[in-house]
Formats: sequence, C-alpha cells, structure tokens
Amino acid sequence: MSTAVNPYEKSKLCGVSLPTRIIRSATHEGMADENGKPTEQLTKLYERYARNGVGLIITGYMGISQQGKCPLYNMTMINSDALIPAWKELTDRVHAAGAPIFAQIAHSGRQTRKKVTGEKTVAPSPIRDFLYWETLPHRLSTKEIHKICDDFAAAALRAKKAGFDGVQLHCAHGYLLHGFLSPHTNKRRDKWGGTTEKRFRIVGEAIEKMRALVGDFPIIVKISSSEKERDGLNPEEALKIAVLMEKAGVDGIEVSCGRASEGFNMSRGGFPYEIMCTDNFRFEMFPKFTWPVLKPFMKFIFKSPLPLFNYNVDTSEMIKKAVKIPVIVCGGIRSASDIESILCSGKADFVSMSRPFICEPNLVKKLRDGVQTDARCINCNYCLMGAERRPLRCYYGQLPEEN
Ligand SMILES: Cc1cc2nc3c(=O)[nH]c(=O)nc-3n(C[C@H](O)[C@H](O)[C@H](O)COP(=O)(O)O)c2cc1C
Ligand code: SF4
Repeated sequence: MSTAVNPYEKSKLCGVSLPTRIIRSATHEGMADENGKPTEQLTKLYERYARNGVGLIITGYMGISQQGKCPLYNMTMINSDALIPAWKELTDRVHAAGAPIFAQIAHSGRQTRKKVTGEKTVAPSPIRDFLYWETLPHRLSTKEIHKICDDFAAAALRAKKAGFDGVQLHCAHGYLLHGFLSPHTNKRRDKWGGTTEKRFRIVGEAIEKMRALVGDFPIIVKISSSEKERDGLNPEEALKIAVLMEKAGVDGIEVSCGRASEGFNMSRGGFPYEIMCTDNFRFEMFPKFTWPVLKPFMKFIFKSPLPLFNYNVDTSEMIKKAVKIPVIVCGGIRSASDIESILCSGKADFVSMSRPFICEPNLVKKLRDGVQTDARCINCNYCLMGAERRPLRCYYGQLPEEN
C-alpha cells in the first residue's frame, strides 16, 4: 500500500523535529585535531549540510575510548569530559544553521591498529581481521566487556551534555558491537556468544547503561543486516536483533549491511585501485613492482556485491513490519524518485545517505528544488580509501593532483 509522504516536509524522529526526512548517514570525516576535538572545518561542513535541507546529521563515528579509536585519519573522539565544550560549540552552530545532530558513538574492536590505540586490538573471539591483519585480537573478558559498556554510557552522557539531539550506537560494519552480534566473528560459548540473545547481550547492556545515565534522550542504533559469509548475519537474524533492540528501549534503527573487511559491501561500487596504491597502508607491505599483480587478485577478493542501489530496502521493509520504532534505511539511495518510493511504500520512515553528501553537500536542496533528479556520486569509493590518510573529500574517480 502506498501513502503520500513528502520527503521534504518537516517530521519527527524520536521526538526530535527534522526539517526533511533525508538524513546524512554517519561518515567519518577525518576533521578532528590530535585529541579528537572537532575542527572549524568540521563545523563548517555540518553547517553547510544544515543550511541545505539535511533532515538530521549523524556525525562520523566518534571514539568512546582510546582502545576503541579507529585507524582512519583524525577520528573525532568523545572519550573525555574535556571535549564537551568544543562539541557544544559545534552543536550550537549546527542548530543555528537549522538541523538537529546525533552523535554516532563507536568502539572499533579489532578493526583498528595497535599503532593507533597503543594496545592489542580486542574482539569477542581471537580471530584475525582480514583487513587490518594485526596480531590475533585479545578475547575480551566479562570484566572488560562491562567496562566497555560503561564507556558507551559515559560517551552518551557527554553527547547529551554537549547539546547533541541524540546518539547513535554503532552496531554495524564489523566494529566491536557488530563483532559480537555476528556469528561469523563471535565464536564464544559463554554468556556473550552462541544464541542470538547471547550475542546481543553486550548491546543490551550498553543500552541499559546508556539509558540509566541519559534518561529520556534519543538512542538509535545502526545495524548491519547482512554479511557476505554463509555463517554471517542474514536479514532473518537481523530482524530478531531489531526486535531485541526495540525491547531494550532503543528509539530507532538504521539499516545498513556488511563489514569493513568484506570490502565494498556496505558502500557498494567501484574498486578504487589507484588511490589504494597511494593511500593504503596495506600496499606498503608489498614491493611496489608487485602492485599491478595484486590488482586483479584484490579486485576479485573485494568485489562489490550487487545490486549497487537501494540494497538494504528489502531488509528495512522486513524490519519495519516487525517493530514499532522508526526505521531509517541507507545504502545506494541516489534518486529523488527512489527516496519518494521508499517512503511512500512504507519500507522505511526515513532515508539516509553518505557518499552523495560528500559529493554534493547541498543535494537535498537540489532534489527538493528539482534542479537535479539524481545524486552525482558515481560510487567510485575513492573517498572511502582516501579516509585513511586525508580529511574527507570527493575525488570523483580521480587521484588528487598532489599525488
Ligand atoms: C568515507 C566514508 C566514511 C564512512 N564512515 C562511516 C562511519 O563513521 N560510521 C558509519 O556507520 N558508517 C560510515 N560509512 C558508511 C556509510 O554511512 C553508509 O552506510 C554507506 O556508505 C552506504 O551508504 P551510501 O550508499 O549512501 O554511501 C562511511 C562511508 C564512507 C564512504
Ligand atoms: S569519491 Fe565522490 S563520487 Fe566517488 S564515491 Fe566518494 S563521493 Fe561518490
């Protein structure tokens, strides 16, 4: 059944007023200083989104602890009270520019490097990450898991004090919480692994502790609803997890897919070989003359699944039928007509996009005003690879001139 929904009209998400139903999905910006403090460059980017009709800005993932810091260029952090005033200044300016803003809070788990965190990577089970290829991650003890849940709660409280309108718990893309949820990476047989309920336990505890500290403050989650591997998460199990999340008191769910080490599944599209050669630390492990030989091999391993567009919409529809809380869908949404059809068919309550806003920060305005019908992003994925060594930008399939 189809109901008329105007994507460009005001709406509410967990009590927060949104100027439109089009959300900027969390996107690491690499625009923090050495302490994880937001820079003027980041504030200006968010102001630009806000002025141009983005309904809600979800920040790039913010580290809840040094242990959970990611290896990408200049990650933002929310691991210390000393950062609250800087974030408050940013949220004030974003609000003045016209949009609400949620903080995405994250722990990288095994998808990081000792070089960055200063300690061994951590995970539910000691299984090496294919992408970061560190030594075997440390298997977290129960005491350490409780401490990480406390860190999530403290980060959520800091976000509230800093004027954010809500938080998003990052349970997707292979980071720590997704690592626990996925049967592919969680092989535990204690109370933190095994059944769906046990793999969910850490997320449930994080939510409970966050709620105890922040009270009536929006907490949403981002989940990966499928993985490439046969023993990974699939939409049926993601649906069960979504129901558990709703029961745990979450206020909304954003549906994504994939894990970073699967290559270009969460952000489907091209294989950015040229920028991988210049910006990817993994290439440094091999002599330069082997790089062209590596190309076909890597292209095969990291092949993007199909379809390239609207690839989480079917799962979003399944989840939406099973829960009462709002559902946001992201992944390859690129045209005004697709946005309208997703919303009008009730397959999601909100749509979110990442790469299109890197390419065109004023995209919502252009779609709303009919200047364009489609986003210009060509899904080349150069921005994703470039995030390892530089602040976020669009490359449009071209190496930057400075190379
Ligand atoms: C450069 C880059 C950085 C990203 N950083 C994050 C992040 O910090 N947190 C997150 O949940 N997803 C992150 N993503 C994934 C996107 O939010 C989104 O789920 C994915 O790209 C699919 O949406 P799209 O087709 O609209 O780009 C990132 C994607 C890109 C391209
Ligand atoms: S570099 Fe630009 S065109 Fe390429 S995927 Fe990223 S945003 Fe899209």
